[in-house]
Amino acid sequence: MSARTILKLRVAQSTHVTNDIAHAYDRAGARYLNYADGTAGDLFDFGSGYHYGDRRIWQAIEAKLVGFAEAGHQRLTVLDAGCGPGTWLRRVVTRAHLLGIPEICATGFDISGEQIAIARLQTSTLRQLPGVRLRLEERDLATPLSEEDASIDLCLCLNGVLNHMPAAHRASVAADLARVTAGKLFVTVRTCGSQPSIFIDRIDAATDFHHDDRTDRLEINLRDGHRVEFDLHLFHASEVRALFAPHIDIIRLSGIDIFHSRFTPDPRWNPAEGAEDAAFHRDLELLEQAYAADPHFIDHATHVLMIAEPQQMMER
Ligand SMILES: C[S@@+](CC[C@H](N)C(=O)[O-])C[C@H]1O[C@@H](n2cnc3c(N)ncnc32)[C@H](O)[C@@H]1O
Repeated sequence: MSARTILKLRVAQSTHVTNDIAHAYDRAGARYLNYADGTAGDLFDFGSGYHYGDRRIWQAIEAKLVGFAEAGHQRLTVLDAGCGPGTWLRRVVTRAHLLGIPEICATGFDISGEQIAIARLQTSTLRQLPGVRLRLEERDLATPLSEEDASIDLCLCLNGVLNHMPAAHRASVAADLARVTAGKLFVTVRTCGSQPSIFIDRIDAATDFHHDDRTDRLEINLRDGHRVEFDLHLFHASEVRALFAPHIDIIRLSGIDIFHSRFTPDPRWNPAEGAEDAAFHRDLELLEQAYAADPHFIDHATHVLMIAEPQQMMER
């Protein structure tokens, strides 16, 4: 086979894969937003057990923002790679503005034009705020980032974006995210031992689904009669470390939500009077902390969270 034919095939495969993803999230539209973030409308309401993971991820991001503001920085740059409907950008920009950071330059991008359209609607008020510059773009994380080296104070790639990245692109994407980060990089991925998800909607929206871990594909038959399939790789925590460690210092790699989702009552099944009390939730929290980095449990968390910062130069 000639080099040109191989190249054509690679381009065709890559286009096929990215179109699958864009198509799936385009079709899901606002259903993805409702599934991922609920309909309550409160950006910071992480009350239910279901949103435990988001609350923990937010605590880590918020701590970074508070530290940044307290250090007196006047300008914050944010990049959200695979921002979906823009909820995490809204959280970051809203909080940074409330913390009094005078200039906030935030960019979110996603391969799904529909998710970007939703993100534009969702951020219309934020974009009017003085000192806020918020750009939303339709682009593919598999193509090299246009951002300059060490130009981003807070770089996010959250909730499954990397799970959708074909194997051939994962290493270069990790290197690129590390390259643009000047402050902190936050990445979360879904683990190989997590509970099932169809990613684009609530699991009840499917009549049937199957993940093939040899081909890294997820096939879903939806209740509305449609069938979608796309790339999906479920990670071991060790893979995340191997991808990023050559490029950036990993300061935390931990499992998020090992226990909470499994103990969240299902109203279709569990009696209402059995609802657990505050002491039970405190014990669950202690379990989360005790096992977050445990090699036997980390790959059973819902997400692995990685927080990283640029490698320190050796002192001469
Ligand atoms: C599960 S959603 C997460 C969205 C958002 N990060 C969040 O936490 O709500 C995964 C997102 O990754 C986007 N995505 C997948 N592959 C991508 C790629 N190659 N480039 C850009 N975005 C991509 C999808 O379109 C989708 O919006």
